Amino acid sequence: MNILLIGAGGREHALAWKMAQSHHCDHLLIAPGNPGTASIGTNLDIQVNDFNALKVAVLENAIDMIVVGPEDPLVNGIYDFFAKDAATAHVNVIGPSAEAAQLEGSKAFSKHFMQRHHIPTASYAEFTVDNYTQGVDYIKAHPLPIVLKADGLAAGKGVIIALTQEEALVSFEEMIQNKQFGEASAKVVIEQFLEGIEVSVFALTDGISYQIIGHAKDYKRIGEGDTGLNTGGMGCVSPVPFMDKTFMQKVEERIIKPTIQGIHAENLTYKGFVFFGLMNCGGEPYVIEYNCRLGDPETEVILPRLQTDLVSLLAAADNGTLEDVNIEYHASAFATVMAVSGGYPGNYKKNFEILGLSEAATVPGTLVFQAGTGFEGNTIVTKGGRVLTTTAQGYTLQEAVKNAQNALSKIHFEGMYFRKDIGYEFGA
Ligand code: AMP
Ligand code: GLY
Repeated sequence: MNILLIGAGGREHALAWKMAQSHHCDHLLIAPGNPGTASIGTNLDIQVNDFNALKVAVLENAIDMIVVGPEDPLVNGIYDFFAKDAATAHVNVIGPSAEAAQLEGSKAFSKHFMQRHHIPTASYAEFTVDNYTQGVDYIKAHPLPIVLKADGLAAGKGVIIALTQEEALVSFEEMIQNKQFGEASAKVVIEQFLEGIEVSVFALTDGISYQIIGHAKDYKRIGEGDTGLNTGGMGCVSPVPFMDKTFMQKVEERIIKPTIQGIHAENLTYKGFVFFGLMNCGGEPYVIEYNCRLGDPETEVILPRLQTDLVSLLAAADNGTLEDVNIEYHASAFATVMAVSGGYPGNYKKNFEILGLSEAATVPGTLVFQAGTGFEGNTIVTKGGRVLTTTAQGYTLQEAVKNAQNALSKIHFEGMYFRKDIGYEFGA
């Protein structure tokens, strides 16, 4: 099978690494990829939203399957683009239709969906410029903290957790009246703050059945002890000690099953990954958000932990046999630690040479996944905020974290920063 993988981050490096192990994978192409994916398959210089150029590559390379990493092309309709074109309709595109991708692309859409299907989530209301003054009254009467969310995609920056009414009112005005996130904040969802521990569960669905393929805890804040600004994710562990049978049963019965049944009942075309962003509130799971893709850096721990052949799994999602697949996990614990550019998630400099990549990769039981990297001639340099992760396994979670940090200590670039406390609440 010839596979085209779309994206350029650590998630895509991990996907490429996993798919290349399958004997079903003949040629693997990545658009646009990064130096990490270039060591596994062939990178194509095509951007993720350039559907016409992707189509040319699909036809030229006799691609059988397209795996979409990031949310942007999904929300922009990449599934529909290939499905509706007679020349490419045979290609197995892993990702939901644009309509179904609204589960991630519109907070209001996903909240309505959860309400219709009685899926536990924070209580909420939505506002636009038309009912702005009602929104102001709603904020004034709401207990604190209060959560404001731009309805559309805002590159991970559209959520404000306000600790005071004043702060909430300023953000509300910024989003709606001053169009802080453009069209994405023309509508704002205001919701109840959920107190708990955040975890992510991942499933693959064909729109009727599903398989759970992993779960992880992501550390989102830049600073140790979960302090400072939110980032795309600074590290992950999997499995998560409190995600035991009892908790997972609640997640499956109250959240995953009704979500997949809802997708089916509403005739949403969805063949792809579902990322359930959950809050564990004293043992009870609530949905914070749906994403219609895998997480980053969650993918960097869930795929190494997954023993099942990923390409077979993705083929099963296309041919009606997903229900029959047997999912197996490695017995070890896994951890990934993200190295970022100094200054991230604020301003940072790039184009610094990255040293020690091959030394880190030789540490037993360790993988290096590149994210914001690029070539400068033959040299690999920093090109983004989140630069790379090291993933390691261990008999215990503590050992996995130690091994990942040990591998990271072989790598150096100017300004490199990473959290040394990933897994801290579990004694790591
Ligand atoms: P989202 O883009 O919906 O994932 O929100 C970004 C982050 O804000 C989440 O990962 C949570 O850490 C936090 N968050 C979102 N909604 C809530 C909520 N209702 N209660 C508490 N924290 C939240
Ligand atoms: N790590 C969170 C995300 O991928 O959205």
